[in-house]
Amino acid sequence: MTTSTELSNADQITYWNEIAGAKWVANQARLDRVFAPLTQALIAAAAPEAGDHILDVGCGCGETSLLSAVRIGPTGQILAVDISQPMLDHARSRVDAAVAPITWLQADAMTHGFAATADLMISRFGVMFFADQLAAFANLRRALKPGGRFALLCWQPRPDVVWMQWPLEQVASVLPTPEPTTGQVGPFGLADADATCRMLRDAGFSQVKASAVATTLTIGIGPDPVEDAMALLGDAGPVAALFRDGEPAERAKGEAMLRAALAGRIDAGAIRLDAACWLYEGTA
Ligand SMILES: C[S@@+](CC[C@H](N)C(=O)[O-])C[C@H]1O[C@@H](n2cnc3c(N)ncnc32)[C@H](O)[C@@H]1O
Repeated sequence: MTTSTELSNADQITYWNEIAGAKWVANQARLDRVFAPLTQALIAAAAPEAGDHILDVGCGCGETSLLSAVRIGPTGQILAVDISQPMLDHARSRVDAAVAPITWLQADAMTHGFAATADLMISRFGVMFFADQLAAFANLRRALKPGGRFALLCWQPRPDVVWMQWPLEQVASVLPTPEPTTGQVGPFGLADADATCRMLRDAGFSQVKASAVATTLTIGIGPDPVEDAMALLGDAGPVAALFRDGEPAERAKGEAMLRAALAGRIDAGAIRLDAACWLYEGTA
C-alpha cells in the first residue's frame, strides 16, 4: 500500500520545469488572452478586497496574481506559489515589485509549511496535479486564516471541454485518443465535482460548493487564426501531448489534419471552441 508520505510530486516537478514550463512561458500572452473569460469568472467569484492576503496556488506565469494585486492594493499581500522555476521567473519579469505586493515562491503546495495568514486562496488550473489530493488540500487549508475563503477553477471532464476534446477527435485516425483521466493527477484531476467536494470537506473545509462555468474561448484570431490556434494547441492541452509523443510521420499527418479542421471552423475571422469548468468555493 502507498501511504501519503510516500507519494511525491516528483514527476510533476520535472514536467513543469523541463517540458511544459518553457511552452507556457512562450504562450503566456496567448493563453491569458484565450482564458480571459474564465479568469474573469474566477476573479469575480474570489472578489479580492483591499488589504487581503492572497495565496495563489500553481500561479504559473502570474496572471491571476497580477490581476488580484490590482484589486488588493499596496496594503494587501500575495504569496504566489508554483513548482516551475521558468514560469515563476517569467511571472516575476511581468511586474514591478515596487508597486505590486507579490512574493513569488518556488515550492510544492502539497507539502510546503505555509503560515496561516491568507484571507483568500485562489487558483486557475493549478491544483489538479497533487499526488495526494487529500493531504495537499489539508495542507492548503492550514494556509488560510480561520474563516478564510477559497475559489479554485478546474476543468470539467475532458469530453465536456470542447477545446481539448475536439482537437483529439480531428487527429484520432492517426494519433489514437487516450482514455479520459478524470480523478487522476493531471488537468482533469478535480473534474468529478461530487468527489472533489467530498475530498475538500474531508480536508477540513466548510461551505464547499461547485458551480459550473461554461464559456466559449477564442482559440484562434488575427491575420492567421489557424496558426494562432495551432500555436496554442501544439503546446498546451492533450493534443499537444499526442504531438510530442507521436512518431514524426504521424505527428505531421495529425498536424495537417488539425490545420484543415481548424480552417473549417473559422467564423467571422476567429476560431471559437467551448470550455466547461468547475469553480470550487468554500471556507477554512
Ligand atoms: C495548468 S498550469 C496553470 C498555471 C497558471 N495558474 C495559469 O492559469 O496560467 C498548472 C500549474 O500548476 C503548477 N503546479 C503543479 N503542481 C504543483 C504543486 N505541487 N505545487 C505548486 N504548483 C504546482 C505547475 O507548475 C503549473 O504552473
